[in-house]
Amino acid sequence: MNQDVIFTPLRFRNLTVKNRIFRSNISGRFDNEDGSLTQTRINWECKFAAGGVGAIISSYVPVLMEGRIIADYATIHRDDFIPLWERLGAAVHRFDCKYILQLSHSGRQMDFPGVHNSHRPALSSTSRKETLHGFLCRAASKAEIDHLVQAFAAGAWRVREAGLDGVELHAANGYLFTQFLSSGINDRTDEYGGSLQNRARFLIEVIRAIRARVGREFHLQVKLSAVDRNNVIPWEKKGNVLSDTIEIAKWCESEGADAIHVSTGSLFPHPLNPPGDFSFETIATTYDAMIASGVDAFRNFLLFRYRLLRPIFRWVWFRMKKGLPIEGVSMEEARAIKANVTVPVLNTGGYQTASFIRNGITSGAFDGVAIARSLVANNDLVQQWAMGRDLPERPCTYCNKCLLNAAKNPVGCYELVRFPSRDAMIEELMTIYATRPTLNLPPVVAAKAA
Ligand SMILES: Cc1cc2nc3c(=O)[nH]c(=O)nc-3n(C[C@H](O)[C@H](O)[C@H](O)COP(=O)(O)O)c2cc1C
Ligand code: SF4
Repeated sequence: MNQDVIFTPLRFRNLTVKNRIFRSNISGRFDNEDGSLTQTRINWECKFAAGGVGAIISSYVPVLMEGRIIADYATIHRDDFIPLWERLGAAVHRFDCKYILQLSHSGRQMDFPGVHNSHRPALSSTSRKETLHGFLCRAASKAEIDHLVQAFAAGAWRVREAGLDGVELHAANGYLFTQFLSSGINDRTDEYGGSLQNRARFLIEVIRAIRARVGREFHLQVKLSAVDRNNVIPWEKKGNVLSDTIEIAKWCESEGADAIHVSTGSLFPHPLNPPGDFSFETIATTYDAMIASGVDAFRNFLLFRYRLLRPIFRWVWFRMKKGLPIEGVSMEEARAIKANVTVPVLNTGGYQTASFIRNGITSGAFDGVAIARSLVANNDLVQQWAMGRDLPERPCTYCNKCLLNAAKNPVGCYELVRFPSRDAMIEELMTIYATRPTLNLPPVVAAKAA
């Protein structure tokens, strides 16, 4: 297996990852309300590091409290959080696993504002409400944009101070950067709206500010949605197409990005991200946590809750998936982006089969894959492949119950058919909690003083 391309190192300009498998961004609501991270997050990340992934790309980590997507997720907005992140990095590094922190800002896509943001209008490129849940927002002024740019730069500096291995800008999936990049969302008439170059200005200013703050040597990658497919709600504009994103990726590279991470969709979740099923039974019991967040959320709750109404949402959601695979849903788009940049390209979306990934690398579609759900289902997926299995014995079914539980319940696999019993499923969900001894992790080195 040593010659297997999956297990060959991936060399970025200033970072080498031991294999081609990245744990994609995913986490749960297990941190503190003030944004400080907990031992539970460390336990969560270590599960994947112990399972053999070459690098972990964190969940979205807001650079400001007002950029939170969900409460109880760790943030990087304070200098005194640096030792906490350092502790997490040290724990993951013990498994020869790299840690890349995803710098993010929700903009108007704020699922669950929490106490900090409940009465604060979210900033965006636009003052139009978000289309799926009806989250309200206000177009940022030039002074506010400048403040946001500096917040990203300060976040990157804190990540470097914490000894982590790099940063990823979350410029995909509907969050603040997408709200500027997307022609389906950005309706500004100033220098941040209109042409593609203007819409990309905010992202480019952030890359420049980060480079000015942390230098050229610190790893910086950008997660982009290859195609917006912004018309999930059928009367919305389609947004950016692949050729737009190729241009953006080229600009990111020339401004100093070291890799492009290719995703899809201008909102999250999106019918194609994460690709797979939609469990009405699950969302009918969890969406109530979001009813107060958006002006259309109660309508959605009724569509999810009442069986007679479900076909309406089913049609809206599933019509975009026609003819597209789950595994490698955006692989051809990644291939097109890779053909136009020289930095490595990662791709996310449904990856689970070793031979499929191998083929994607050798055929030039991408250099590595970022996997979320298949690793949640099988934390040791990489080890199973190393032992010669092509697919794990109990694969992820792409049911998306993990996703639809995430706003309310602990993160983990909720697919009952994968477990001998419901109790066994819950037992697995509980393994990350701080007081549980079951993970048997090595002790974490003491954090440096702030
Ligand atoms: C519960 C859950 C949380 C996620 N959180 C994030 C996130 O914080 N940032 C991000 O860029 N993507 C996030 N994603 C998307 C995944 O990182 C990944 O790109 C997507 O699920 C497709 O990959 P997969 O098919 O391997 O799951 C999340 C996905 C799930 C299921
Ligand atoms: S709940 Fe489990 S099986 Fe379903 S998509 Fe999530 S990880 Fe996969």
